[in-house]
Amino acid sequence: MKIIKILSLACCLGYFAFGASEVYYIKATGEFGKNLSEVAKQYAKDNNANIDIFVDEDPRTYKDTRVLKLGVNKRGHYSTSLGKELYEKNCMSCHGEDMQKRPSGATALKNMSAEDIEGSVISYRTDNEFGGSNKILMRDVARKISNSDLGAIIHYIKGEDAYSSDIEYENKPVSTEKKQGSYLR
Ligand code: HEC
Repeated sequence: MKIIKILSLACCLGYFAFGASEVYYIKATGEFGKNLSEVAKQYAKDNNANIDIFVDEDPRTYKDTRVLKLGVNKRGHYSTSLGKELYEKNCMSCHGEDMQKRPSGATALKNMSAEDIEGSVISYRTDNEFGGSNKILMRDVARKISNSDLGAIIHYIKGEDAYSSDIEYENKPVSTEKKQGSYLR
């Protein structure tokens, strides 16, 4: 039986009106979960809201490590040119010049949000279970890179406004795109 977990079903109209940031996790199994996720997708589409649906994967594990471990200072001033240099030195060989490579089937960095890249790197650092078959490669990298270097790299990958993309993201029509961790299957 498949386990279907639904994240942020809460994005209805009030979401924008009150700027609420609560995220709701709904865990549902089997056919019921599948049907519920279809209904949720349609509901999000009708309301022009964003929804993330995770199948067989618990998004809370990922979220918790991010809360436990402080990451990039979002108000920091990072140099994108330093970020470029650091990316070329530390990441490019595996993730590609255009950030489109998918080592071991991982998501292309270009297609991840700043938060997801950061959360993922922190999880590789702090959680031995996190990742796919080649997690050891990334764990080594993640443990060597400092938060300030990571901040610069993320700003290079996502641009100066890396962390303000949240607002943009909320207003996009429903996305069924799988985020980090999707390469696990
Ligand atoms: C030696 C090769 C190598 C280098 C260098 C490297 N990575 Fe990775 N990266 C990988 C592999 C392989 C994976 C998938 C690992 C797995 O199986 O979990 C990965 C996964 C990731 C993921 C997770 C993607 C997802 O699908 O969730 C992120 C984020 C990431 N890398 C960021 C970086 C950053 C930032 C750097 C530079 C600081 C970097 N990587 C350097 C090989 C590398």
